[in-house]
Amino acid sequence: MTPINPEARANVHLIDHPLVQHKLTLMRKKEASTNSFRRLLNELSSMMAYEVTRDMATQDVQIETPLEKMTAKMIDGKKLVFVSILRAGNGILDGVLSVVPGARVGHIGLYRDPATLQAVEYYFKMPKNMEERDVIVVDPMLATGNSAAAAVTRLKVCTPKSIKFLCLLTCPEGINTMHQLHPDVPIYTAAIDRELNDHGYILPGLGDAGDRIFGTQ
Ligand code: URA
Repeated sequence: MTPINPEARANVHLIDHPLVQHKLTLMRKKEASTNSFRRLLNELSSMMAYEVTRDMATQDVQIETPLEKMTAKMIDGKKLVFVSILRAGNGILDGVLSVVPGARVGHIGLYRDPATLQAVEYYFKMPKNMEERDVIVVDPMLATGNSAAAAVTRLKVCTPKSIKFLCLLTCPEGINTMHQLHPDVPIYTAAIDRELNDHGYILPGLGDAGDRIFGTQ
């Protein structure tokens, strides 16, 4: 088993809320249907969105309640971009957008070369003015870390204000790889599993997230 580098571990936010853990357990079960897997992912993603946006900047605005004027806080959701790593990242989008409906969405298409397990880019589409925006990259599984690191490397060319990484599950290998290449990118996850197998799958994990979301297994 690969140990987690302590510095890398310090950069991981484990979202251990009981509701998140409960739903994750239901998703892990092999008998969970596509329908319930997708619904649970949706619910989990919206809960995780609260945690990953906890330090989001707010602005003071002047409003009037039925009783008096006041200064109140609002976020500017339009400055936030959720970047989905295709295709499994799309399973997280509905949930996070239900919490921040004004956010923009970008997509990165990467496939894992089955021989080398390295990421190869085939699609990249981002909103304009990325240098004004905070980015949250979403992908349910941070496994080898190769796709995640490649996505972040590519995104950094657009010089966004900040980048965070949001996943459901990760493992020591994924955490260490991300930290080695992108120590400035915090990881938000609902669980750190034991290890990767020889095919790059997380153990105990939940199987192939894309197949389970889209029913293609
Ligand atoms: N991608 C998946 O969908 N599952 C894993 O366990 C690892 C990568």
